Amino acid sequence: MNRQNPTQTEAWRILEAHYQSIKDVHMRDLFAQDAERFLKFSAEFEDILFDYSKNRITVETLEKLMALARETKVTESIEKMFSGEAINETEQRAVLHTALRNRSNTPVIVDGTDVMPEVNEVLDKMEAFSEQLLSGAWKGYSGKPITDIVNIGIGGSDLGAVMVTEALRPYWRGNIKPHFVSNVDGTHLEETLRDLSPETTLFIISSKTFTTQETMTNAHSARDWLLGAAEDEKWIAKHFVAVSTNKEGVTKFGIDPDNMFVFWDWVGGRYSLTSAIGLSIACTIGFKHFVELLEGFHAMDEHFRTTELDKNLPVILAMIGIWYNNFFGAETEAILPYDQYLHRFPAYFQQGNMESNGKYVDRSGEAVNYQTGPIIWGEPGTNGQHAFYQLIHQGTKLIPADFIASAVSHNPVGDHHEKLLSNFFAQTEALMKGKTETEVRDELSGSGKSQEEIDKLVPFKVFEGNKPTNSILATKMTPRTLGILTALYEHKIFVQGVVWNIFSFDQWGVELGKQLAKSILPELENDEVITSHDASTNGLINAYKDKRGE
Ligand code: F6P
Repeated sequence: MNRQNPTQTEAWRILEAHYQSIKDVHMRDLFAQDAERFLKFSAEFEDILFDYSKNRITVETLEKLMALARETKVTESIEKMFSGEAINETEQRAVLHTALRNRSNTPVIVDGTDVMPEVNEVLDKMEAFSEQLLSGAWKGYSGKPITDIVNIGIGGSDLGAVMVTEALRPYWRGNIKPHFVSNVDGTHLEETLRDLSPETTLFIISSKTFTTQETMTNAHSARDWLLGAAEDEKWIAKHFVAVSTNKEGVTKFGIDPDNMFVFWDWVGGRYSLTSAIGLSIACTIGFKHFVELLEGFHAMDEHFRTTELDKNLPVILAMIGIWYNNFFGAETEAILPYDQYLHRFPAYFQQGNMESNGKYVDRSGEAVNYQTGPIIWGEPGTNGQHAFYQLIHQGTKLIPADFIASAVSHNPVGDHHEKLLSNFFAQTEALMKGKTETEVRDELSGSGKSQEEIDKLVPFKVFEGNKPTNSILATKMTPRTLGILTALYEHKIFVQGVVWNIFSFDQWGVELGKQLAKSILPELENDEVITSHDASTNGLINAYKDKRGE
């Protein structure tokens, strides 16, 4: 990968100067000056409309941002990823989640071998298994068909499957109910299993490494739960399957290798939902719909790979994100789906984004002197409006936000959808326009307030506006549309990592806590006073030991 401090580029220097001329410009004025603004700053991809006109940008801004993308070798890097170069340099791996949904089936070569036959083999196995489960042909130890599947996994082996199964609830086949256990807190497993019957439950143990403490602990307890009823280990084969890259670990756990669905080290955990990690999705919505999801991903992958930078949607969104992150000093980005089914979409991309681009060391191993990945957060609208939007509207922080909605609801109840969408439109308008002092004064005097009252209230009722948003409006949230949308955000992360000159596909930062937890665990097994840590950690551990004895 290219190694270049983005702040040392010509494009960055030009953008800094440009920022000075834009920072005080109000979007209200930009809209007033240009009747074509919406047309200029919106695009359609299949049935999805992307409106990025409510951003603090001009045509010139985008041109300058694209110059930065060019200078930091975004196009070349995209090609390196798709063609299987080992761009995850710290782990010496290719990054090929795009091969998992390569519906064109053109060869993708890793270390001299085309990986597509293997990819297709696993997909075939997923199809056969999910259909066996959904048709009721796969029986549990007592001869009854499976009714519930429990995916045990965490992070990238959980969040994507949760996000997609929730987003595609209208496509559930109905006879298989998915559940997800991730937290090592025993409560998660207990509360999930409470209403399930071992006779009709199948566990999907999803772990790329098959060593993750949380997953292995939950998997062993699930095994005990099953054996408590089924009594004979031979029934494990009927109730446990594994999704992993680690055959040895799976076999050691006691899962029949025939019941293992493999994936490969060139699939990053947080980019793995289109691998066999999506097995719980296929078993819930059926393989046909799973393939439609993959086709959506593939359509966006192709767009990303082949479209010139200034028309390339992931690139546009990524560069606008960089504009706020690095020039306006925005620290967070909100993802706000106006779709209840997308309620885990922000959480999914919280990992996607923050685990990928939460890096302070550049590709040369030097500490960066600029900001990298933003904090990602969000909740579905309209709930967020009644919780945290106040700060977006009138707080001191600039929070760029993505609003996502569909024109057609899966649940057309009364006028709910019109009300939902009226909020979707109103919020971005309010965030952009704000409310001027004159407007506030007119409104207050219209409501019969005295001059004195008006003078007092005005400062609190003025909205600065000029808060940037992107609006993404799909026709309907189908599997294909969700695939397109998810791939869009994946590639946005990639582009930003390239520009920031960081490695987006490792995650060394999560290791230290894991290592320390390992060394603390044996210290909790006795009642001795602990002195091996700093005073705070010792104090906390010793207090815990006192309290648990009570
Ligand atoms: O701790 C972070 C992480 O390694 C994530 O990157 C990954 O998605 C998650 O743990 C789970 O890992 P595994 O699939 O190996 O259990």
